[in-house]
Amino acid sequence: MMSITKERFTFLNKFIESPAQVGSITPSSKFLVNKMFENVSWDNLDTIVELGAGTGVFTSHLSKHKKVSTKAVIIEKDNQMRRNLETAYPSLTFGSDAERLDLLLHKLNIPRVDCIVSGLPFANFPLELRKNIMKAISKSLKPDGLFIAFQYSLQMKSMLKQYFDHVEVGFELRNIPPAFVYTCAKKKEGN
Ligand SMILES: C[S@@+](CC[C@H](N)C(=O)[O-])C[C@H]1O[C@@H](n2cnc3c(N)ncnc32)[C@H](O)[C@@H]1O
Repeated sequence: MMSITKERFTFLNKFIESPAQVGSITPSSKFLVNKMFENVSWDNLDTIVELGAGTGVFTSHLSKHKKVSTKAVIIEKDNQMRRNLETAYPSLTFGSDAERLDLLLHKLNIPRVDCIVSGLPFANFPLELRKNIMKAISKSLKPDGLFIAFQYSLQMKSMLKQYFDHVEVGFELRNIPPAFVYTCAKKKEGN
């Protein structure tokens, strides 16, 4: 696993290379990580997906807390960051594109998942990509599954409400920058 300094350096470099894709200058804080997972019931989890893993602060948390039998699929677009994670977590499964999540799960023979956590910077994405990712999430999540995402603004709230009946918004000040945490449940039929 990378040292904290190396992790921050990699992250900053990646932000400089592709600011819109990476969306932040530094990995999420441990406070934000804890808040993201506070509603996850590890004992009842058979499958979990992480979108936009970056240098792996969520990956590390989920790999420590999940049951051995829980399948975890980690999605990261940046090749270098994904390869680092593949080396650090050889027992997890990896993919590259959040917008193709449903196709990847189909290929892996995983019908639908219990929980999807996201670090994707939706606010930086064009509307079409946002919609395609939300459709892929919707197709991939069990009807009683949880979608948990952090964002630096409330911009995504209305789109999330189109896909989920319950959208709860929390806030974590101890992060750079402070972040909103959306916990979304129960998909509306037909989305
Ligand atoms: C804000 S960073 C979050 C990283 C990490 N989860 C954290 O909280 O520190 C967003 C990550 O999403 C990745 N990403 C952006 N677009 C993506 C896409 N379409 N599919 C998969 N990953 C994507 C970026 O490469 C970046 O690593």
